[in-house]
Amino acid sequence: MSELKRRTFFKLGLTGALLTAFKPSKAAELMEEGVNSSKLRRAIQPMVVSTWNHGLAANEAAWETLSAGGNALSAVENGVKVTEADISNRSVGIGGLPDSSGKVTLDACIMDENSKCGAVACLEGINHPISVARAVMEKTPHVMLVGKGAREFALDQGFDKIKTPVKEAKKAWKEWKKEEKRKSPEINHENHDTIGMLAIDQFGNLSGACTTSGWAYKMPGRVGDSPIIGAGLFVDNEIGAACATGMGEAVIRIAGSHTVVELMRQGHSPQKACEMAVNRIIRKHDNLENLQVGFIALNKFGEYGSYSVYAGFNVAVKTADKAELEDAPYLMEWE
Ligand code: GLY
Repeated sequence: MSELKRRTFFKLGLTGALLTAFKPSKAAELMEEGVNSSKLRRAIQPMVVSTWNHGLAANEAAWETLSAGGNALSAVENGVKVTEADISNRSVGIGGLPDSSGKVTLDACIMDENSKCGAVACLEGINHPISVARAVMEKTPHVMLVGKGAREFALDQGFDKIKTPVKEAKKAWKEWKKEEKRKSPEINHENHDTIGMLAIDQFGNLSGACTTSGWAYKMPGRVGDSPIIGAGLFVDNEIGAACATGMGEAVIRIAGSHTVVELMRQGHSPQKACEMAVNRIIRKHDNLENLQVGFIALNKFGEYGSYSVYAGFNVAVKTADKAELEDAPYLMEWE
C-alpha cells in the first residue's frame, strides 16, 4: 500500500466508527479488508497504556473518564494527575526529587488528536503541571512556557500552589549533598520513571500526556525530554502515538517519540517501532552505562508495543477486559 493510500485509509477508515471488540493481532488483516469492512468499523475499543507500575493507578482514572464518555485528551490528563498528586512518588509531580540546588522543577506536555499541544518546563511550586500544559495549549497562542513565565501563567489561571520538596524528598537531597563523591546527578533506572500515557477513545481518537520532575539532582535549569513535543511525547491521529521514559538527553537526540510514530507510519508495528528507536539510540552513544530509555507506542488500531535499553521497564495496560502491568522487552540486562 503506498504511503498516500495508507494515510487516506487511516483517516477515512475510522471516521464515525462505533468502536468495540478490538483484537489487536487482526489489525493488518483489517487493513487489507479495506475502508468499508464491517469488521473494521467494529475494530477499535478504548484503551490506555502508560509507563511503569505507577501507570496502573493512573490508567484506572483515565479509564473512568473514557467509560463516562470522555475523550482521550481528558483521559490522559486525569490519568497522569493521579501520579502527579502522589506524594510518595519521587519522579513525578508534588513528591518529586529536587535539582542539585534543592528546588523541585516540573516538566509536562500534552497532545491531542488534532496535533494541538501544550507544555511547561522548569515549573516550580504549582500543582498539576499537566493541566497547566493543557491550559497553555487551549488558552495561549503558544506551545511551551517555562520557568517564571509558566508559573505566572499558572497562577493567573488559578492553579494551586504547592510546597516542594516534600519532607522525604528534601531528606534524600540532603543525604545526596553530604556525599561529596556523589555530586553529579543520579542516573539509574529508579529515578527516571516519568509517567507517559497514551489513550484511544470511543471515537478512535488518540491523545497523550507526559509529566516528570526530571533527572534527580539535575543541574538547575536542566530540562529533559518529557515536556518536548516529539521527544517525550508525540501523537499523530492518522497513525499512532508514542512516549518515552528514561534519560531525556538520549531521547531528545533522536527526537524519540516522533521517530517511533514515523516508523509506524512507514508500516512498522508499535513493537518494532519502539525497538528500532532504542537501537537508534544505542548506535548514537558510545557509553551505555546507565543509559536507560524506554518507549511505549499505541497505533490507531489499538495495537501497542514497548521496548527499553535495559531490563526493568514495564507498561501498564487497561482495556475493557484487562488491567495489567507487562514487562517490556529489552536489549540488555543490568550488570
Ligand atoms: N525522561 C525524563 C527526564 O529525563 O527528565
